[in-house]
Amino acid sequence: MMTSSLPRTVSGIQATSDSLHLGNYIGALQQFVVHQESHDAFYFIANMHAITVEQDPSDLRERTLRTAAQFIAAGIDPEKSTIFVQSQVPAHPQLSWVLECTTSMGEASRMTQFKDKSAKQDHVSLGLLTYPALMAADILLYNPQMVPVGEDQRQHLELTRNLAERFNYRFGETFVVPEAQILKSTAKIYDLQNPSSKMSKSLPSPLGRIDLLDDAKSLTKKIKSAVTDDGKEIAYEPESKPGVSNLLTIYSSLTSRSVDDIVAEYEGKMYGHLKVDLAEIAVEALTPVRERTNELLQDRAQLQAILDSGAAKANEIAEVTLREVYDKVGFV
Ligand code: TRP
Repeated sequence: MMTSSLPRTVSGIQATSDSLHLGNYIGALQQFVVHQESHDAFYFIANMHAITVEQDPSDLRERTLRTAAQFIAAGIDPEKSTIFVQSQVPAHPQLSWVLECTTSMGEASRMTQFKDKSAKQDHVSLGLLTYPALMAADILLYNPQMVPVGEDQRQHLELTRNLAERFNYRFGETFVVPEAQILKSTAKIYDLQNPSSKMSKSLPSPLGRIDLLDDAKSLTKKIKSAVTDDGKEIAYEPESKPGVSNLLTIYSSLTSRSVDDIVAEYEGKMYGHLKVDLAEIAVEALTPVRERTNELLQDRAQLQAILDSGAAKANEIAEVTLREVYDKVGFV
């Protein structure tokens, strides 16, 4: 087995939409791309987490491949990072079972994501409750030092650390206790129509969400119709000017320029100027990602081959950890 001397990182994204949105791209994918240079990186598509709420099978299959294609199109390089699909590595649900038996009902039911999601469902699956144990398994199998996740996953990471420590204490040193790397809040992207909510796939207005796979026309339309704030001045004031501040954040993330620098450039100009320029910048930044995604989706066999080889590598590492765990808990 080829082992890397770099520190390891693991992260996953659920396969629940046809296109990732700009928040995923700026908040997660761009960071994944950075970390692959300094880490032995494992990035996967969490299709098993996706079915904690009902999914149509053909949608799930298609979205899994589309998400993988977007990973690669965004710059995650299969030569540098291991890209795989969660369900292709059976050690994930296998370790999850052991971790479910390490987690108390109280801990699982206190998770705020469980409380939020279960309040919205008529049918609350058991999987929605055990979701964080599967997530802990996703992570602990690879013994990563660092796990980049959004703020909304902080509590799950905390539970993962507790489970790792609990297991190590009870059965002897087994897991690395991973650090959460909370994706920086300056990379937090808000809904263009309702800039007090995070950009999300579940918000009602499609105009508020920029999808990675939007074409030039809809990108332009969405940015031009973004809600702005009272007053005229282009300033970064998230409290009093959430709309304009959000546009500045997006501008800054897509150009790698500082917000201060951008604000200085637009002194004395109007919101409209900023929007026109930002629309152009977004088209320029996202068009290659969209085109590359579509290209990758033209050749499903090649995409599947990349995922198969990622799964082979992930399986090799995950199985070593799983075997040690099975042995320690006393499975013959
Ligand atoms: N729960 C994460 C989310 O919805 C996705 C995820 C699943 C994940 N397993 C993971 C993220 C392991 C990091 C590490 O965003």
